[in-house]
This record gives sequence, C-alpha cells and structure tokens, in this order.
Amino acid sequence: MEDSPRPAAFILNRDDVSTSWPAERMLLDFLRQERRLTGTKEGCREGECGACTVLLGKLEGESLRYRPVNSCLLPMGEVAGAHVVTIEGLNGEGLTPVQQALVDAGAVQCGFCTPGIVVALTGYFVNADRWEAQEAVSSLDGNLCRCTGYLSMKRAVSSLCSALQPPWKNSRDVSPAMEARLEGLVQCGLLPGYFLDIPRRLTLLREQGEHVLPFDPRESTPVAGGTDFFLQHRADDGRPKLFFLSSREDLRGIHIHDGVCRIGAATTVEEMVRSEVLAAILPHVKEHLGLFGTTAIRARATVGGNLVNASPAADVAIILLALGATVGLAEGKKRRQVALKDFFKGYKLLDKAPDEWVEWVQFPLPSRNAAFHFEKVSRRPRGDVAGVNSAILLEVDGGVIRHAHLSVGGVAPVPFYLAETVKFLEGSELTLEVVSEAAAVAQGEISPISDVRGSADYKRLLLRQLVLAHFLTLYPSLAGKGCLHGAP
Ligand SMILES: Cc1cc2nc3c(=O)[nH]c(=O)nc-3n(C[C@H](O)[C@H](O)[C@H](O)COP(=O)(O)OP(=O)(O)OC[C@H]3O[C@@H](n4cnc5c(N)ncnc54)[C@H](O)[C@@H]3O)c2cc1C
Ligand code: FES
Ligand code: FES
Repeated sequence: MEDSPRPAAFILNRDDVSTSWPAERMLLDFLRQERRLTGTKEGCREGECGACTVLLGKLEGESLRYRPVNSCLLPMGEVAGAHVVTIEGLNGEGLTPVQQALVDAGAVQCGFCTPGIVVALTGYFVNADRWEAQEAVSSLDGNLCRCTGYLSMKRAVSSLCSALQPPWKNSRDVSPAMEARLEGLVQCGLLPGYFLDIPRRLTLLREQGEHVLPFDPRESTPVAGGTDFFLQHRADDGRPKLFFLSSREDLRGIHIHDGVCRIGAATTVEEMVRSEVLAAILPHVKEHLGLFGTTAIRARATVGGNLVNASPAADVAIILLALGATVGLAEGKKRRQVALKDFFKGYKLLDKAPDEWVEWVQFPLPSRNAAFHFEKVSRRPRGDVAGVNSAILLEVDGGVIRHAHLSVGGVAPVPFYLAETVKFLEGSELTLEVVSEAAAVAQGEISPISDVRGSADYKRLLLRQLVLAHFLTLYPSLAGKGCLHGAP
C-alpha cells in the first residue's frame, strides 16, 4: 500500500492534523493507536455496537453538516478535509449537559458504551430542529449497552429534552444553518467554544485543496459508505486500492426530470430519508427507510452500495424493484441502462462488468392513484438486516388493479421480483379473494432455503403474511369484505 494516496489534512477535535496513514486504514485505529484518543472504544468492529461513534463534520457546498459515524468502518480517506469529533473533543470545563444527565440518571455503569452514547446524543442535538425525547432515544438505535442501562438512559434523555430548548426555538428560521446552530449549542454548553471557528477552518482547508484525493477510478475499487465493503475486507494489508465515491458530488442527489425520479448512486440512505423530493412521491419513505440499519449506518450506506452488494434482503433494492427502477451504468465514456429486475443474475452475480460503475438508479413517477408500501421483518426492530422484506406498488382504478410491482427479499439468492404474482394481479379486481390467491401465487414463485434468519417454511409463511399486510395496509376496507382462504 506504499503508493496509496494520503489523507492530506483534517481537523481532529481542536487540532489541525496532517498524517501519512494510508487512506484505506480505519479511523478508529488512527484515533486509538496513533493519537491515543482511547475514549473512542473498540467493540464489535462491525458497525453494530456504536462504541466507536464519532462525529464527522463536512462542508457540503457552503453549509457544514455533522453526522454520527462508526469510526471502525470509516477509512482515513474519508476524513481528509473534515472535522472529526471524538468524546475528548466534546470536553470543556466541566461535564456537558448530556454527560451530566447520564450521570444523574445512573446511566453510566461500566462506562464502556458511554463515550459512544454521549457522542451520538450530542450529534442528535446538533442536527435536530426540535429536541424531542422519542427522537433523541431513536438516535441511539446504533448504541448497545452491555450493562443494559437503557431505562436510565431513557430517563436521562427525557430530563435533557425537558430541561433544554433549542436556542433557535423562537427564531423565524426553524432550521438554521450550522453556523447559527453552533452559537446556540456552545451557549447552552452542549459543545465547547472552539466549534465556533470550525466553519472558517474547514473553508480554509478546502481553499488550500488539502482535501482532494487524486485517485484514478480505473485502477481502484470503488467504495461508497464502506458499510459492506469493510466487513468483507477486514485485514488492513489485504485491502485493494480504493476510490472514494463520496468525492464524486455528481453521483449524489435526488432529482425529478421528465417524469422520472433519479437518485445518484452515492446518495446515502439518510439523504433519502430526509429528501423532500422523495417524500412528495413516497410519503412514508422516512418510516420505511427508518427501518434500515442504524442512524450511523444510514449516514454512510448508499443506494449504489446496496444494489452492488446485492444482499438478497437489501432494503433499498427491494424498494426500488417495486418502483420499477432502472440502473444507469458507466464504463469510461460508455453508458447503458438495465432494468433493476434484470440486474440481479444470481447470488452476488450482477449484469455489470468489473469496471462498470453504477451512476444512478431511476424510476417512473407513480400515477396519482398509485399506492406504495414496504414491510420488513427482522430479529431486532432496528439495526438488523431483514429476515424477509417486501415492497409493493399498486395502481387501482374502478376497483381493478391496472398496474402492479411486487418484490421480496430474503427468500431467493437475489432481491426477487415476483413476476408471476404481478401478472396475476394486473387486470384482477381488488377483492380479498384475489389478494389471498396472489399470496398463494407468490409462495409458489419462491424456493427459500433455511438459514440463520429462519426456516424455509417460516419464510414462505412470512411472504404470505407480508403480501396480505401490503393490501390490508393500503386498502383497509378490504378487511371487512370476507375472509382470507388459508389464513393461519
Ligand atoms: C450494522 C449494519 C446494519 C445494516 N443494516 C442494513 C439494513 O437494515 N438493510 C440493508 O439493506 N442493508 C443493511 N446493511 C448493509 C449495508 O449498510 C448496505 O448494503 C449499504 O447500502 C451498502 O452501501 P455502502 O455505500 O456502504 O456500500 P460499500 O460498502 O461502499 O460498497 C459495497 C459494494 O458495492 C461496490 N460499490 C459501491 N458503490 C458502487 C457504485 N456506485 N458502482 C459500482 N460499485 C459500487 C463496492 O465496491 C462494494 O463492492 C447494514 C450493514 C451494517 C454494517
Ligand atoms: S466497534 Fe462496534 S460499531 Fe464500531
Ligand atoms: S455502561 Fe457498561 S456497556 Fe453500557
């Protein structure tokens, strides 16, 4: 890895840092081994426990944004030009309100999880427009506590949210820019004073071009959020040379044009959750994608990574299959498109040449009378990959299903498009009998295998239940119109 590009410079807490650590190595190791910032803990090293949580502040255009991320899955190449905040970087004169509330509520036992929890919770207060206990608790969805101090943590969060008001509460600007936020956050002691100068210092770094990573994409493996990649390439010395897709602004964003909605491949799940464009098309997108991973994973995981990793239960892939999506691929100057349902050829086998990139994915805007729904069943309600998941798009007119898409994950080697069931549904009347029969057709289309996420029979039963759940959620009046044949 001698010729790896080097992260030129970044800000670590209060300090300007310049390092020769390879771009492919993990920030967690740099913090603990090189800088001896051992407040950031190493737990699972798989993005599951949150002990290693830090805040990553990056300039996006003219605005600064901080995100909680798992430093065990964050390569050094991603921190160039950024502000990295560890637990040590939150310390000021005394305890911050977050630290004090956790102590007061008895939420600190062995303390191993505490730095990650303080950082994640502070990240919530930095980003949220309103401070609400339930949302603040949800922001800890990626932080495990082995001493199970969850109830006391919830008490701490409640008391914090009652005691603190966002300093911008009475301002006309309900969602002020980060610079204005920082002032308020420093005033109420949530952040130390040095944060006020960070926007200027980051702008200076950018002007000096210190954050630019001169990779040649033809010679390197693309990595986007790294939330799959670094689980599969654990050893530092076994990693290929990387190209960081986050540096490609042109691969990000969600736009509507000529009747289609196009999502850049490097758009993160968090950006999808927050997108007003997407919410106007899919009103429940926040709820549906809120089931994806954890806050820190959503901040990094991308659409392109989800499709190329091609896990059979990949949530974004399942949602996009039911939207009738098309993938845009690029290789040098060559461009081509492929229907997403034809993109997945077999287990982790794609209609994609080794040097081809996913540039974007797009789907036609659903008609006004279309309805969309997504269901996910997993062992844990949050932070877990689905056992079985499914999505549906239905256009019903005059009581007849005119158009349908239906997908299911976790029951086949690929994210699966239920083509036979779609054929059966289109042109059928919307009745409970048709729904019941559709569920049976869907069960006949799949041959699940038993694995750690459930037996084949269980998955088959789940698919039936999810098909029923789709229809009964979208058309609740169906429930009063007869009984379901074969319902358990
Ligand atoms: C704790 C945890 C929880 C998770 N929970 C979920 C979940 O609930 N649902 C779910 O679906 N997944 C989940 N995942 C899996 C993962 O987060 C997703 O699959 C994610 O979308 C991958 O995106 P990424 O940007 O991190 O991909 P990366 O890891 O960066 O890349 C994955 C693969 O795709 C390639 N690649 C990435 N972008 C492109 C591109 N544009 N063109 C060509 N190749 C590309 C990379 O080379 C790599 O081979 C979870 C992972 C973890 C660690
Ligand atoms: S060490 Fe567990 S999430 Fe990073
Ligand atoms: S206090 Fe011990 S792990 Fe949370």
